Amino acid sequence: MTLLSVPVIAVDGPAGVGKGVVTRWLMTHTGWHRLDSGALYRILALAAHRAGIPLDESQRVAALASALDIRFTGETEADEAILVNGENWTSALREETTGDLASRIATATVVRDALLQRQRDFRTAPGLIADGRDMGTVVFPDAVLKLFLDASAEARAERRHRQLSRKGLDVNLADLFAEVRARDERDRTRTVAPLVAAEDAVTIDTTVMGVQEVLQVVAALLKARNLKF
Ligand code: DC
Repeated sequence: MTLLSVPVIAVDGPAGVGKGVVTRWLMTHTGWHRLDSGALYRILALAAHRAGIPLDESQRVAALASALDIRFTGETEADEAILVNGENWTSALREETTGDLASRIATATVVRDALLQRQRDFRTAPGLIADGRDMGTVVFPDAVLKLFLDASAEARAERRHRQLSRKGLDVNLADLFAEVRARDERDRTRTVAPLVAAEDAVTIDTTVMGVQEVLQVVAALLKARNLKF
């Protein structure tokens, strides 16, 4: 099997829209691997921050990428861990502040280029579910199915709040809403690989949809494209 014949499903959308839930459901139903591209941006941002590199020094940030040994372990959300150079960075990576740092470094072309091949290397048989912002537009333009999930900033801030509370993280809803709005603005308006639906993506607005409803739509799409195994 050549690399390009390994199928990819792209799951793009803004922060807090539910890409993780859809991605995990797709993994269960296809048995394919996952690329959590946001985690790569988060890791690089946190590594730069910890090394004292100013985030706007994009060349220096990008140069760090090749020195990072990154391992994703665990099968379920509960037991997943992300090891960076042998250390467990999982909880620090989940922090909202880390998402914000990631969004900042992600505006630079040199940084995105440094992570491009690393993302494509996740494309291994039998297939890949890739979630992020530019999976369908830039990283895997030949994906067999491109989903673009969207929802109002209010709905996403509330969901994120519930999700973080469940994980025991104490975050103020108003602060979260402001952060979601700021991150959206940065991700959608950056000049390089902005958050936008690919022309051939199926957009699902989940603002007033429950999780099961969204998954039913996704299941119907898989079936329609003969992707259900
Ligand atoms: O999906 P996430 O919240 O973990 O992503 C964190 C930030 O990383 C996001 O705000 C923008 C950046 N990112 C990106 O620019 N491109 C991707 N494919 C994934 C994430």
